[in-house]
Amino acid sequence: MNKSAIFPFKIQDPPVIVVFGITGDLSRRKLLPALYHLMRHGVLPANTVIIGVSRKSLTSEDLLKEVELCVLEKDKVCDPDGLKKVKTALQSFQLNPDNPEDFEKLKAFLDNLDGQTKRHRLIYMSTPSDAYSVIVEKLGAHHINDSRTKLLLEKPFGHDIDSATELIKTVDKGFKEDQIYRIDHYLAKETAQNLLAFRMHNPIFQSLWDDKHIHQVTIRAFEEIGIEGRADFYEKTGALRDLVQSHLLQLLCITLMDNPAILDSQHIHKNKQEFLKNIEPADPIKAVRGQYNSYKNEINNPGSFIETYAKIELKHKSTKWKNTKIVLETGKGLSQKNTEIVIEFKTPHEEIRNKLIFKLQPSEGIHLDLAIKEPGFETLMKHAELYFEYKNSFGEQMNVDAYERVLVDALRNDQSLFASDEEVLETWKILDPVLKQWQKNNQGLVIYKKGMGAENIIEGDKIS
Ligand code: BG6
Repeated sequence: MNKSAIFPFKIQDPPVIVVFGITGDLSRRKLLPALYHLMRHGVLPANTVIIGVSRKSLTSEDLLKEVELCVLEKDKVCDPDGLKKVKTALQSFQLNPDNPEDFEKLKAFLDNLDGQTKRHRLIYMSTPSDAYSVIVEKLGAHHINDSRTKLLLEKPFGHDIDSATELIKTVDKGFKEDQIYRIDHYLAKETAQNLLAFRMHNPIFQSLWDDKHIHQVTIRAFEEIGIEGRADFYEKTGALRDLVQSHLLQLLCITLMDNPAILDSQHIHKNKQEFLKNIEPADPIKAVRGQYNSYKNEINNPGSFIETYAKIELKHKSTKWKNTKIVLETGKGLSQKNTEIVIEFKTPHEEIRNKLIFKLQPSEGIHLDLAIKEPGFETLMKHAELYFEYKNSFGEQMNVDAYERVLVDALRNDQSLFASDEEVLETWKILDPVLKQWQKNNQGLVIYKKGMGAENIIEGDKIS
């Protein structure tokens, strides 16, 4: 199956996509390859305009070279015809976020692209989040915020509950909630989207979806890579803010929230908010944090106690979920990349639990763990696994990258896979006690060897 079969539709009206922070890490790893793919496969029309905004003076040729390098790094090949399409779209724009005149020039530049019809605009903030306020305020002040404009913001949205509240207020001054797209690219992964559809369309599981039948839900996102040179970002963030506040809590919502009456943005957000409101603030006593052993050297800060591994346990207040144990766990510098949602069902014998596992990475799919009688005269039970893998059923090509999906959904006004302001605030509230506790000192920080399995991170020595 090729991508034209996955994207039977095309975006009809050529948009203008303005990327702030085009030379940053996120842009290079995820956004530029996604834009290239969408242009190459004709999902974005030929006369799309992509404006790379940067403090530095860069030519469009410099940016194009950057696109080619990023695509080669990601895909190992770069199609010259695809690159030609990007070339016709790409323009560079130099801007100093502190200089109001530069925003006036940007407005004139954008207005000039309109011609007869007003083009849809996506403004993609791929800068560190502490730069959002200054840019977003000026976009509003210089009227680059009319109703055809959408603002895409990368996580983390703030640093804690107070800064998130402030950021939301600032953004709200210039943009309405239906113009704001707070990206969580984990929700745009195929398995995450399938999860909701799976729950709605497989009635055999519906009657089992409560704490009478589900013993534990574990969501884990393990990475082999370390912080990849993002010392500044990581020192301000840490694993809890980087992955748990956004990706893992969002995945938890779509795993356990009530099925929406209709699978649309409004119903999905309503149920997510309801679900999040009922999670008790995380208990620091049950939280574990770790740091891989070469981290301090890597960031050149011997005193750092930022965690590269975090694990928390959560409790839900509702009668439907109060007896299910919820565990969220993430780490960098571990033995393997593995992102999965594990649903463990109650069984009479603890040693053999039925598990339904949604695999997000490295290979997307669904596994079902069953207890099977071993052949022979005795009744000896063993684990066996049924599994479905996307790539076997649909081929490697089916894999639409999460960032391609994010861009397409924003262009077609679909906010289902983006976090609402209320969700963001609720997630910070849940993590607040642990964040505060971890900020105080390095007590309980487990140092683990880079490359080891998360199961070996010792849970003793926790914060008391
Ligand atoms: C990002 C985090 O949101 O997700 C990174 O900031 C992390 O630290 C990345 O490496 C992981 O994304 P993926 O899609 O490669 O699992």
